[in-house]
Amino acid sequence: MAIPNVVIQLAYLAAAVLFILGLRMLSSPKSAPRGNVTAAVGMLIAVVATLVDRDVVDFKWIALGAVIGGAAGAVAALRVAMTAMPQMVALLNGLGGAASALVAGADLISTVVDAGSVPTGIVPTAIVLSVLIGGITLTGSLIAFAKLQEVMTTAPITYPGQQVVNALIGLGMLSLAAMVIMDPSELTAFWALAGVSLLLGILLVIPIGGADMPVVISLLNSYSGLAACATGFVLDNSALVVSGALVGASGIILTKIMCDAMNRSLANVLFGAFGAAPEAAAAGAAQDQGTVKAYTPEDAAVIFSNARSCIVVPGYGMAVAQAQHAVRELADTLEEKGIDVNFAIHPVAGRMPGHMNVLLAEADVPYDKLVEMDDINPQFPETDVALVLGANDVVNPSARNEEGSPIYGMPILDVDRAEHVFVIKRSMNPGFAGIQNPLFFNDNTMMIFGDAKKVVIALGESVRNY
Ligand code: TAP
Repeated sequence: MAIPNVVIQLAYLAAAVLFILGLRMLSSPKSAPRGNVTAAVGMLIAVVATLVDRDVVDFKWIALGAVIGGAAGAVAALRVAMTAMPQMVALLNGLGGAASALVAGADLISTVVDAGSVPTGIVPTAIVLSVLIGGITLTGSLIAFAKLQEVMTTAPITYPGQQVVNALIGLGMLSLAAMVIMDPSELTAFWALAGVSLLLGILLVIPIGGADMPVVISLLNSYSGLAACATGFVLDNSALVVSGALVGASGIILTKIMCDAMNRSLANVLFGAFGAAPEAAAAGAAQDQGTVKAYTPEDAAVIFSNARSCIVVPGYGMAVAQAQHAVRELADTLEEKGIDVNFAIHPVAGRMPGHMNVLLAEADVPYDKLVEMDDINPQFPETDVALVLGANDVVNPSARNEEGSPIYGMPILDVDRAEHVFVIKRSMNPGFAGIQNPLFFNDNTMMIFGDAKKVVIALGESVRNY
């Protein structure tokens, strides 16, 4: 029985509304799980509508794909560690780009070879865009995955004239794209376009340092959405057009948020080969800026026990040490002693968007204890103790007052304005930006050297016994 088109279109409209509501709910940790389910229900409606709408001649292959894909997704969801999430997202983006390119390419080939005709109107342009963007997304994401998983060097791979070579290949790709659009029956140009897109994805991502990969992954996420959107035009499927456009737009917004929070332009992330000069970093680390005061957890417990308020600033080191449960227990201990505890969240603390929120939520820290940078900064001058836990760049005052600093202008958490500052880290080594932090040498700063988890556990015990 044929389903009337109006029903299918209404189902797609419902799916689009659910996608948008789901995205809206993702903006708060509290409603995010509901947002995920809402968007997933939207996707289910869109998939079912597509399956009943199209003249599917054989459901066997579709069922097989669903079983294999569903099993792989379930295993990954259960087994992949939270710290490996960026790699996982990179793979998913790459596969999304590949799927869009394959569907669009198959549409062209079946039209030209099987039906002996040529696509017309907007379709050739949509096919070209899908293959071009999807190809770049696939190989770019695989390189991002390899860098984050450390199966290849995480350092930027650069060579003289690299950007000129990439620009020339890009121009070649655009010429091939124009040839396919003008004559879609020209399949040799189509295959060459697919090959060059795959090559360009590799070449564009290899010069980017491993630590910049979260930004690149967010950008590739946006590309995978654009490729899907283009394929939506090829198939004349409005649900795919809408969902692809939403992914494309949200990916680019997240990319911009990350770049702004690092005070870097997207061009600097993509072409700046950040992290390519470790000597400069080492020089910065070695630079003598005075002496630091090293405290033991027992010494620190005295100050903590006499405090009324404490702001914990988590950073990448907390993730490395997996200290989130220990810090939640410390916060509980402090609160039992009548000390007010909050957590200050910097938008790019750690190595992926929402890194600290995810870890602290995993440790059951209540959402209302996580305070965003702009809201918590005015509170530091009235705070007795700021506890910097494996954070470095996000609390570096050079960003505020040292014009030549590579992080000058980056918004930071103003921990130096608290009465006492404790910094837990293992050594005087710099963080991601490779520069020394004058905060560590301030009169009101005390360092507690050691692994974040071990130090926090010892600190908790000392406070309890005080
Ligand atoms: P970082 O500046 O990278 O500093 C982390 C500090 O943690 C290091 O100085 C390190 O010092 C310490 N550490 C490492 N392992 C530790 C352990 N087991 N125990 C205790 N301390 C440990 O981190 P941040 O302040 O979170 O800043 C994030 C940086 O990443 C920013 O520069 C940001 O721009 C960049 N970035 C972020 C993102 C996103 S989306 N979050 C994306 C790309 C880049 P020791 O070695 O001395 O212990």
